[in-house]
Amino acid sequence: MKVITISNHKGGVGKTITAVNLAAALRIVNEKRVLLIDSDPQGSATKHLLGRGFKPDEHLGQALIDKSFADVILETSSGLDLVPADIRLGNATDVIEDLKHWTFRLKQTLATVAEHYDFVIIDCPPSLKTFTVMALVAADAYLIPTEPEEFAVDGLEKLTDLADYVVAGMNPGLRMLGIVVTRYHKNLRNAHHDKMINAMHEKYGEEMMLPSIRRDKTVLDAVTQASTVFHLNAESNAAKDYRALAAAVLARV
Ligand SMILES: Nc1ncnc2c1ncn2[C@@H]1O[C@H](COP(=O)(O)OP(=O)(O)OP(=O)(O)O)[C@@H](O)[C@H]1O
Ligand SMILES: [Mg+2]
Repeated sequence: MKVITISNHKGGVGKTITAVNLAAALRIVNEKRVLLIDSDPQGSATKHLLGRGFKPDEHLGQALIDKSFADVILETSSGLDLVPADIRLGNATDVIEDLKHWTFRLKQTLATVAEHYDFVIIDCPPSLKTFTVMALVAADAYLIPTEPEEFAVDGLEKLTDLADYVVAGMNPGLRMLGIVVTRYHKNLRNAHHDKMINAMHEKYGEEMMLPSIRRDKTVLDAVTQASTVFHLNAESNAAKDYRALAAAVLARV
């Protein structure tokens, strides 16, 4: 079982869209057994797969505190298994941080389902706190989605610094898988998209640049219809790009 954490403390950069559709590509195109973990109290990945109005009975926090994953995992029609989240996960933060060795809690809980999955994809909240720390401690690798804006490259160090801290003290095996530019759009007016990609290239090296995801309405339709880009239109640009991303991920882990 390989655990991949999708993280960037900046909000709205495509973490959830990437977590859901990368997980779907691994499941549908590559026939891997995939568990998606929603570790964001906003519950965006949960709403994405199960609809805006869906209210889970159980949530990730309960699996971390006093239940097992078996109590919490939902099978979804996308073929993905999901550990859901909602606002109650945020309310449980203090209780979780009072647990002994809380930073290892997600890692320990995941060990109980290791035989059942080839991949675990963790969708993180836009923060560097509790759930992102636990997700980095639990992961083999982390992937950073980012928007194609000129200054996006500047903030990434906060995340890579946290990851370095986690490597030094808690998870020596953690590595950076790479950066994914989302909502990519190539035209003259948006030449700064390419400028920004070049800036990342220079800073992190070519091997850290994963395939970009083009801006595509299929992504938004998938959210509205509680589906994935593969179920909606397997020939869409978004499906092609997430397929390429999954292939790159498989080649690296
Ligand atoms: N490839 C794409 N094409 C078009 N729109 C996209 C694409 N990727 C993401 N978006 C849009 O960008 C917005 C933010 O995406 P998403 O929710 O995945 O970001 P996030 O980083 O998870 O946000 P948060 O920090 O709040 O968790 C959404 O409205 C989504 O529909
Ligand atoms: Mg999100």
